Amino acid sequence: MANAMKIAIVDDEQDMRQSISQWLALSGYDTETFASAEEALGTVGPDYPGIVISDIKMPGMDGIQLLKKLMGSDSSLPVIMITGHGDVPIAVEAMRIGAFDFLEKPFNPDRMSDLAKKATNARRLTLDTRQLRRELAEGGQIMKKLIGASPAMERLREDILDLGQADGHVLIEGETGTGKTLVAHALHAVGSRAGKKFTLISCGAHDEDTLMTRLFGPMQPEDTRLPAIEEARGGTLVLEDIEVLSDAAQARLLSTINDQGNPPETRIVAISNLQEEGRTCEQALRPDLYYRLAALKIVVPPLRARGEDILTLFTRLSESFADEYGCDAPKVSAQEAAQLLQAPWPGNVRQLINLAERAVLQSRRGQGTIASLLMSDHDQMQPVMTTEGKPLKEYVEAFERMLIDNTMRRHKGSIAAVMDELCLPRRTLNEKMAKYGLQRADYL
Ligand SMILES: Nc1ncnc2c1ncn2[C@@H]1O[C@H](COP(=O)(O)OP(=O)(O)OP(=O)(O)O)[C@@H](O)[C@H]1O
Ligand SMILES: [Mg+2]
Repeated sequence: MANAMKIAIVDDEQDMRQSISQWLALSGYDTETFASAEEALGTVGPDYPGIVISDIKMPGMDGIQLLKKLMGSDSSLPVIMITGHGDVPIAVEAMRIGAFDFLEKPFNPDRMSDLAKKATNARRLTLDTRQLRRELAEGGQIMKKLIGASPAMERLREDILDLGQADGHVLIEGETGTGKTLVAHALHAVGSRAGKKFTLISCGAHDEDTLMTRLFGPMQPEDTRLPAIEEARGGTLVLEDIEVLSDAAQARLLSTINDQGNPPETRIVAISNLQEEGRTCEQALRPDLYYRLAALKIVVPPLRARGEDILTLFTRLSESFADEYGCDAPKVSAQEAAQLLQAPWPGNVRQLINLAERAVLQSRRGQGTIASLLMSDHDQMQPVMTTEGKPLKEYVEAFERMLIDNTMRRHKGSIAAVMDELCLPRRTLNEKMAKYGLQRADYL
């Protein structure tokens, strides 16, 4: 039985272990037996997918000590204690420590089945709730990793939440380093497949033969994995660089998709890199495959379209690197902020992460400027200051927000100090903070 709950039976007497185990196995449980408490502790731990039935009188660690240990590691694990006939004080003691219930010797098999049923039901409920809570936390966590409040990012978040709930296959498009892989993880984590299989294959990283085998099998005899298509069954299969698939691989994938029911058992999340002058995914794939994969589509915006997010990301990233390297985050001058906002960022968020790390290392050594790093990244940057068709207002606001944000941070939320440094009356400062969504409480 695949889904049967386990029952761990702990008793030093072999006859006893065997008869309890046989009886419960007949009722459909998956039993395992242990001759001592020590032995049981090797297998039964937090999140044990079942319950424990243990004798109390055993040489070495006795049942009460075992119960204490188990309650210490997972206080909602149901443990049923077997007590001697009429041994009320021990039974009371066990219940006080947290036993689920007790069985008096000689015991009545029907009462035992009854108790086992109650305990396993309770256990299943606990584990399901725990799993759900973990998945919710994980989905929330991964969404929190997505930094940025620009309209483009807000739209992306909504897309992830909407499509996460949907059932069809998804195509994620975007330039290199924009966060496509992160978005694929988020889609899985916020949807109904969270907690199920998540398999990610980089199609571009394998040669044709290896890729075909990894995707569809048969696997090499020494490889214990399943082919990706089967491994991901019931969950999500992410295929990065989908545009490199050969005609043969496309045909194979299409027939696999066609064989699946609707909604598909395995959700395919295809990722395609948009290059400025390269082919689009639509041009690279056969149309019947393309339209199946692109049933739902998410376009991850390039960094240069995220306006002030660039400064927010830079600040957050350089702070976290500064933390890691044990130094202060570099200060961003007005001119540097403008340059960060105007850089073309062909490597997108990945390039910004890389730049933030170098900026921190540089400032730790007390040399170099952000401007010089930017210049070495983009030689076209130097004095050319373009606005790439963006309104001046957008730059000015992004810059204003960053200055207030940084100053609040340095003064740990002291409004008076910030008013003083920026020569702003209180009312203006309050208005600007409200406008940019900055809250004093976040700096205290
Ligand atoms: N909005 C964001 N906030 C914070 N970090 C991000 C964001 N977007 C991407 N990242 C980080 O940027 C890096 C690059 O992201 P990711 O690998 O997902 O990009 P990609 O588009 O898949 O790149 P590639 O085209 O090379 O596959 C990762 O470290 C990721 O965690
Ligand atoms: Mg990627």
